[in-house]
Amino acid sequence: MPRLSDEKITEIRQSVDIVDVVGTYLPLSKKGRNYVTICPFHDDTTPSMSVSPEKQIYMCFVCHNGGNVFTFLKEYLKLSYIQAVKKIAEIGRVDISEYQIATEAKPVNKKFEPLYRMHEEANKIYSHYLQTKSGLAAKEYLHHRDIDDAVIDAFEIGYSLPQSILVKSFGNMGYTQLEMVQSGLVIESKDGYDRFVDRIMFPLHDQDGRVVGFSGRIFKDSKNEAKYMNSPESDIFIKGDMLYNYHRVKETVRKAGFVIICEGFMDVIALYRAGIENAVAIMGTALTNGHIKALRRLTKTIYLCLDGDNAGRQATLKCIEILEKQKFQVRVVELPVNSDPDELLKEKGKEELQAMLKEVKMPIAFHMNYYYEQTNMQNYEDKKAYLERMVNAIGTLKDEIDREYYIEILEKQTGFSKQIIYNSLSKITNQLIVPNPETVTYVRNKQLIDKYRQAERNLLYYMLEEREVSKRYEKQLGFMIDTVYNIIASYIVDYYRQHFVLEIADLINSIEDEKIVQSIITIAQLSLPPIKEQEDGNVVYHYQVIDDYIKMIKEKVEIKMKKQELKRALEETFDPIQKARILGEIIALKERK
Ligand code: GTP
Ligand code: MN
Repeated sequence: MPRLSDEKITEIRQSVDIVDVVGTYLPLSKKGRNYVTICPFHDDTTPSMSVSPEKQIYMCFVCHNGGNVFTFLKEYLKLSYIQAVKKIAEIGRVDISEYQIATEAKPVNKKFEPLYRMHEEANKIYSHYLQTKSGLAAKEYLHHRDIDDAVIDAFEIGYSLPQSILVKSFGNMGYTQLEMVQSGLVIESKDGYDRFVDRIMFPLHDQDGRVVGFSGRIFKDSKNEAKYMNSPESDIFIKGDMLYNYHRVKETVRKAGFVIICEGFMDVIALYRAGIENAVAIMGTALTNGHIKALRRLTKTIYLCLDGDNAGRQATLKCIEILEKQKFQVRVVELPVNSDPDELLKEKGKEELQAMLKEVKMPIAFHMNYYYEQTNMQNYEDKKAYLERMVNAIGTLKDEIDREYYIEILEKQTGFSKQIIYNSLSKITNQLIVPNPETVTYVRNKQLIDKYRQAERNLLYYMLEEREVSKRYEKQLGFMIDTVYNIIASYIVDYYRQHFVLEIADLINSIEDEKIVQSIITIAQLSLPPIKEQEDGNVVYHYQVIDDYIKMIKEKVEIKMKKQELKRALEETFDPIQKARILGEIIALKERK
């Protein structure tokens, strides 16, 4: 099976116009030579994203997300690189059938292949038995819970027989008992036996959609068995990272603009039955770093839809705290007391469930409700404690109108005057209002762009435009002081060894480091005066400016080296007069900068 060559990838990229591709997802308006739109990758209000038909790249001037068509699909649809290439090939009608591209994100670690295969096989076996006579009671239970065949299909629900069916099948497939036990599906004993017997089986997939474990539910009145039994952790199943349904929701989350987090997978399935497909479940555990990482790749906006019992409410408060700290935008679906989405659907129907999701609350509103219910407003101490807690919460709100709104509610709830509330608020906000660290570093970085660095940047700009500039750089300079610029320069030089004309959109294909790609895109989007001009029908190049840049950078390099030399001399000298002389020289060098 041949791999996609660079030429093929270039062909695929050139088969489409970036303006058309971005334009199918975002409304574009023409501005000068480019198109602009509201950037979908940050909280944008004015159109900050620009798409260049000439260079076939896009870039946001605020959040610096940028790249070619592949990068765009990768970021926008949350695809892997190879999936993005495949999708563009489809749009551009480039035939890649002979390449048989595996869309699995990561190549499977060979060592774990048996584990994945056993899970795949187990999934098939369980699914099969749910459709047989032995699975009749299980199926009845599911139907009784309004889970019909289409839903069974969508979530690949199955049934594990009362006998050890996996041990037998895995044995026939040639797996050793050690491998079976490692999968977690078989329990070690003389002949080994199946972990899951006589349960309704829900496969658990990893983030790339491979089955890595199961959860089995009892469905008969049972003595003292746990309601759900899960696979143990294994080399391929990390419980803390598991978000049920994660691999299915990428597209629906993008469309909706948010993901819903539920407690149990039955809730995810209930939402699905109500036509809401962008939900995942944390499976009754706390939010972990693994979850956060996965969620971050999905979206910035999260709706918490945990159970309406006290445990669920407390978990909601905890989740809010964690997610807001991680800069997610959080909304809360507040379910009726002691109900979960599944029960709500059963009791009140689809419309009610859909309506609940439209009535999401800001975290502060949820916070207020929760503590208000627990506070005895007749008791002065309790009331005061409530006020203080809420003032703290209001103090974290950035929006003035939101603050005003909740201050008013607080006034009504507690009877304390607005003036008191303002006063307490100003005490804490004085400490809370700090400049946004992002803007601070941004300004600082801007100041740091000294003239030498600017010379390097501009030189790179012209290298991207003209092969000859790259040749001059190679011959006269050969390296840059800025580490990132230096890497970019070598990519460019290398590219011209194989191509006569440089296409930025193709250059970035071979670069994996996203920081470098962004840097290239930023440089390419500068609009510096052209060095190539038409004069009386002839093309004239202004290489003087290039030579000046090169000279300037060279000078800086010399100063740098001289400074290092002087510093070394300073360390080695003991004579105070000598020392003073060297110091003087160092200072003089600094002033030249
Ligand atoms: P149903 O009772 O079938 O409607 O499930 P549920 O979604 O209402 O379950 P519940 O709210 O009780 O629990 C939420 C999640 O916690 C479940 O989806 C499971 O992942 C997990 N869980 C619940 N009970 C058990 C248990 O007995 N053992 C284990 N390991 N996990 C459980
Ligand atoms: Mn339930």
